[in-house]
Amino acid sequence: MLNIALPKGRLGEQVYGLFARAGFECPAVLENSRKLIFENAETGVRYFWVKPSDVAIYVARGAADIGVAGKDILLEYRPDVYELLDLKLGKCRMAVAGPAGFTDRKEQTLRVATKFSRIAREYYAGQGRDIDIIHLNGSIEIAPILGLTDVIVDIVETGKTLKENHLEVLETIVPISARLIANKSGFKFKTDAIQRLTNGLRKEVDGN
Ligand code: PRP
Repeated sequence: MLNIALPKGRLGEQVYGLFARAGFECPAVLENSRKLIFENAETGVRYFWVKPSDVAIYVARGAADIGVAGKDILLEYRPDVYELLDLKLGKCRMAVAGPAGFTDRKEQTLRVATKFSRIAREYYAGQGRDIDIIHLNGSIEIAPILGLTDVIVDIVETGKTLKENHLEVLETIVPISARLIANKSGFKFKTDAIQRLTNGLRKEVDGN
Protein backbone atom coordinates (compact mmCIF):
# COMPACT_ATOMS: atom_id res chain seq x y z
CA MET A 1 0.00 0.00 0.00
CA LEU A 2 1.16 3.48 -0.84
CA ASN A 3 0.05 5.90 1.89
CA ILE A 4 -0.74 9.32 0.48
CA ALA A 5 -1.51 12.48 2.49
CA LEU A 6 -3.67 14.91 0.53
CA PRO A 7 -4.15 18.55 1.55
CA LYS A 8 -7.80 18.97 2.51
CA GLY A 9 -9.71 21.43 0.32
CA ARG A 10 -10.01 22.50 -3.30
CA LEU A 11 -6.29 22.11 -4.02
CA GLY A 12 -6.41 18.56 -2.65
CA GLU A 13 -9.30 17.70 -4.96
CA GLN A 14 -7.30 18.95 -7.96
CA VAL A 15 -4.30 16.97 -6.74
CA TYR A 16 -6.40 13.79 -6.39
CA GLY A 17 -7.57 14.32 -9.99
CA LEU A 18 -3.93 14.29 -11.14
CA PHE A 19 -3.15 11.16 -9.10
CA ALA A 20 -6.22 9.38 -10.48
CA ARG A 21 -5.26 10.22 -14.07
CA ALA A 22 -1.76 8.93 -13.34
CA GLY A 23 -3.32 5.53 -12.51
CA PHE A 24 -3.71 5.77 -8.72
CA GLU A 25 -7.49 5.91 -8.53
CA CYS A 26 -9.60 5.60 -5.43
CA PRO A 27 -13.02 7.04 -6.37
CA ALA A 28 -14.30 7.02 -2.76
CA VAL A 29 -11.89 9.90 -1.99
CA LEU A 30 -14.29 12.37 -3.56
CA GLU A 31 -17.42 11.04 -1.88
CA ASN A 32 -19.14 13.65 0.18
CA SER A 33 -18.60 12.29 3.67
CA ARG A 34 -16.73 13.05 6.85
CA LYS A 35 -14.46 10.06 6.39
CA LEU A 36 -10.78 10.94 6.25
CA ILE A 37 -9.18 7.68 5.07
CA PHE A 38 -9.90 5.82 1.83
CA GLU A 39 -8.35 2.68 0.36
CA ASN A 40 -8.33 1.01 -3.02
CA ALA A 41 -6.73 -2.45 -2.91
CA GLU A 42 -6.79 -2.68 -6.73
CA THR A 43 -4.54 0.33 -7.31
CA GLY A 44 -2.69 -0.21 -4.01
CA VAL A 45 -3.33 3.20 -2.48
CA ARG A 46 -4.54 4.55 0.82
CA TYR A 47 -5.39 8.26 0.75
CA PHE A 48 -6.04 10.46 3.74
CA TRP A 49 -7.13 14.07 4.04
CA VAL A 50 -5.07 16.25 6.40
CA LYS A 51 -4.75 19.95 7.06
CA PRO A 52 -2.52 21.35 4.26
CA SER A 53 0.09 22.67 6.69
CA ASP A 54 0.29 19.22 8.37
CA VAL A 55 1.02 17.15 5.22
CA ALA A 56 4.80 17.51 5.59
CA ILE A 57 4.63 16.31 9.21
CA TYR A 58 2.89 13.07 8.20
CA VAL A 59 5.41 12.51 5.41
CA ALA A 60 8.53 13.41 7.42
CA ARG A 61 7.46 11.03 10.22
CA GLY A 62 6.62 8.19 7.82
CA ALA A 63 2.87 8.05 8.56
CA ALA A 64 2.52 8.85 4.86
CA ASP A 65 4.91 7.72 2.11
CA ILE A 66 3.89 10.53 -0.21
CA GLY A 67 2.13 13.86 0.13
CA VAL A 68 1.54 17.21 -1.47
CA ALA A 69 2.70 20.33 0.34
CA GLY A 70 3.12 23.98 -0.58
CA LYS A 71 6.63 25.25 -1.20
CA ASP A 72 5.91 27.86 1.52
CA ILE A 73 5.64 25.10 4.14
CA LEU A 74 8.78 23.36 2.84
CA LEU A 75 10.79 26.60 3.01
CA GLU A 76 9.47 27.55 6.43
CA TYR A 77 9.69 24.21 8.25
CA ARG A 78 12.41 22.40 6.22
CA PRO A 79 10.94 18.93 6.81
CA ASP A 80 13.37 16.06 6.19
CA VAL A 81 11.66 14.75 3.02
CA TYR A 82 12.44 14.36 -0.66
CA GLU A 83 10.88 16.96 -2.94
CA LEU A 84 10.08 15.00 -6.10
CA LEU A 85 8.04 17.19 -8.40
CA ASP A 86 6.54 20.64 -8.89
CA LEU A 87 2.84 19.97 -9.54
CA LYS A 88 2.38 23.55 -10.79
CA LEU A 89 -0.91 23.82 -8.89
CA GLY A 90 -1.81 26.24 -6.10
CA LYS A 91 0.43 28.88 -7.61
CA CYS A 92 0.96 32.03 -5.58
CA ARG A 93 3.92 34.01 -4.24
CA MET A 94 5.49 34.91 -0.93
CA ALA A 95 5.70 38.68 -0.75
CA VAL A 96 6.38 41.69 1.43
CA ALA A 97 3.32 43.92 1.54
CA GLY A 98 2.57 47.19 3.21
CA PRO A 99 0.43 50.31 3.04
CA ALA A 100 0.29 51.78 -0.47
CA GLY A 101 3.27 54.07 -1.01
CA PHE A 102 5.19 52.75 2.01
CA THR A 103 8.89 53.59 1.97
CA ASP A 104 11.33 51.79 4.24
CA ARG A 105 13.25 54.26 6.42
CA LYS A 106 16.37 52.19 6.76
CA GLU A 107 17.66 53.81 9.94
CA GLN A 108 14.87 52.15 11.97
CA THR A 109 14.29 48.48 12.69
CA LEU A 110 11.59 47.27 10.31
CA ARG A 111 8.65 45.62 12.09
CA VAL A 112 7.36 42.60 10.16
CA ALA A 113 4.21 40.54 10.89
CA THR A 114 4.11 37.03 9.45
CA LYS A 115 3.18 33.38 9.81
CA PHE A 116 6.44 32.61 7.98
CA SER A 117 9.10 33.77 10.43
CA ARG A 118 11.99 31.79 8.99
CA ILE A 119 11.30 32.88 5.41
CA ALA A 120 11.06 36.51 6.56
CA ARG A 121 14.20 36.28 8.72
CA GLU A 122 16.26 34.71 5.93
CA TYR A 123 15.01 37.15 3.32
CA TYR A 124 15.93 40.24 5.34
CA ALA A 125 19.20 38.67 6.58
CA GLY A 126 20.14 38.32 2.91
CA GLN A 127 19.63 42.05 2.53
CA GLY A 128 21.43 42.90 5.75
CA ARG A 129 18.24 44.60 6.98
CA ASP A 130 17.58 44.70 10.70
CA ILE A 131 14.03 43.53 11.49
CA ASP A 132 11.75 42.74 14.38
CA ILE A 133 9.46 39.80 13.62
CA ILE A 134 6.03 39.56 15.16
CA HIS A 135 4.77 36.04 14.59
CA LEU A 136 1.01 35.89 14.00
CA ASN A 137 -1.22 32.95 13.10
CA GLY A 138 -3.68 34.56 10.69
CA SER A 139 -5.33 37.81 9.56
CA ILE A 140 -1.80 39.13 9.05
CA GLU A 141 -3.10 41.99 6.89
CA ILE A 142 -4.48 43.74 9.95
CA ALA A 143 -1.06 44.27 11.56
CA PRO A 144 0.09 47.31 9.51
CA ILE A 145 -3.40 48.80 9.54
CA LEU A 146 -3.43 48.87 13.32
CA GLY A 147 0.20 50.00 13.55
CA LEU A 148 1.38 46.71 15.06
CA THR A 149 4.00 46.42 12.31
CA ASP A 150 5.26 48.35 9.28
CA VAL A 151 4.88 45.51 6.76
CA ILE A 152 3.81 41.88 6.43
CA VAL A 153 5.36 38.84 4.79
CA ASP A 154 2.56 36.64 3.50
CA ILE A 155 1.16 34.62 0.65
CA VAL A 156 -0.44 36.57 -2.18
CA GLU A 157 -2.56 34.71 -4.68
CA THR A 158 -5.03 37.00 -6.43
CA GLY A 159 -4.06 40.11 -4.42
CA LYS A 160 -7.70 40.61 -3.40
CA THR A 161 -7.07 40.41 0.35
CA LEU A 162 -4.34 43.04 0.13
CA LYS A 163 -6.44 45.33 -2.05
CA GLU A 164 -9.45 45.17 0.23
CA ASN A 165 -7.23 46.13 3.15
CA HIS A 166 -5.49 48.98 1.30
CA LEU A 167 -2.16 47.20 1.15
CA GLU A 168 0.06 46.46 -1.83
CA VAL A 169 2.94 44.15 -2.73
CA LEU A 170 6.25 45.91 -2.10
CA GLU A 171 8.60 43.04 -2.99
CA THR A 172 8.18 39.44 -4.19
CA ILE A 173 10.29 37.00 -2.17
CA VAL A 174 9.69 33.69 -3.95
CA PRO A 175 7.10 32.00 -6.21
CA ILE A 176 5.15 29.20 -4.51
CA SER A 177 3.39 26.08 -5.83
CA ALA A 178 2.37 22.61 -4.65
CA ARG A 179 5.13 19.99 -4.50
CA LEU A 180 5.07 16.19 -4.41
CA ILE A 181 7.09 15.06 -1.39
CA ALA A 182 8.18 11.63 -0.17
CA ASN A 183 9.33 10.08 3.07
CA LYS A 184 13.01 9.16 2.73
CA SER A 185 12.84 5.54 3.90
CA GLY A 186 9.42 5.00 2.28
CA PHE A 187 11.07 6.04 -0.98
CA LYS A 188 13.70 3.32 -0.53
CA PHE A 189 11.19 0.53 0.14
CA LYS A 190 8.47 1.58 -2.30
CA THR A 191 10.68 2.96 -5.06
CA ASP A 192 8.80 1.30 -7.94
CA ALA A 193 5.35 2.57 -6.99
CA ILE A 194 6.63 6.04 -6.14
CA GLN A 195 8.54 6.33 -9.40
CA ARG A 196 5.54 5.11 -11.38
CA LEU A 197 3.44 7.74 -9.65
CA THR A 198 6.01 10.50 -10.14
CA ASN A 199 6.42 9.70 -13.84
CA GLY A 200 2.66 9.55 -14.35
CA LEU A 201 2.20 12.88 -12.58
CA ARG A 202 5.02 14.48 -14.56
CA LYS A 203 3.25 13.53 -17.79
CA GLU A 204 -0.02 15.00 -16.51
CA VAL A 205 1.66 18.20 -15.34
CA ASP A 206 3.55 18.66 -18.61
CA GLY A 207 0.38 17.91 -20.57
CA ASN A 208 1.73 14.86 -22.46
C1 PRP B 1 -3.78 33.42 2.44
C2 PRP B 1 -2.96 34.65 2.82
C3 PRP B 1 -3.85 35.79 2.45
C4 PRP B 1 -4.69 35.24 1.31
C5 PRP B 1 -4.18 35.77 0.00
O1 PRP B 1 -4.58 33.06 3.48
O2 PRP B 1 -2.61 34.63 4.19
O3 PRP B 1 -4.65 36.18 3.53
O4 PRP B 1 -4.55 33.82 1.31
O5 PRP B 1 -5.00 35.41 -1.07
P1 PRP B 1 -5.45 36.47 -2.18
O6 PRP B 1 -4.23 37.18 -2.67
O7 PRP B 1 -6.09 35.64 -3.27
O8 PRP B 1 -6.44 37.40 -1.55
P2 PRP B 1 -5.34 31.66 3.50
O9 PRP B 1 -6.58 31.76 2.68
O10 PRP B 1 -4.40 30.59 3.12
O11 PRP B 1 -5.82 31.54 4.99
P3 PRP B 1 -5.00 31.55 6.36
O12 PRP B 1 -4.53 32.97 6.58
O13 PRP B 1 -5.99 31.12 7.35
O14 PRP B 1 -3.85 30.59 6.19
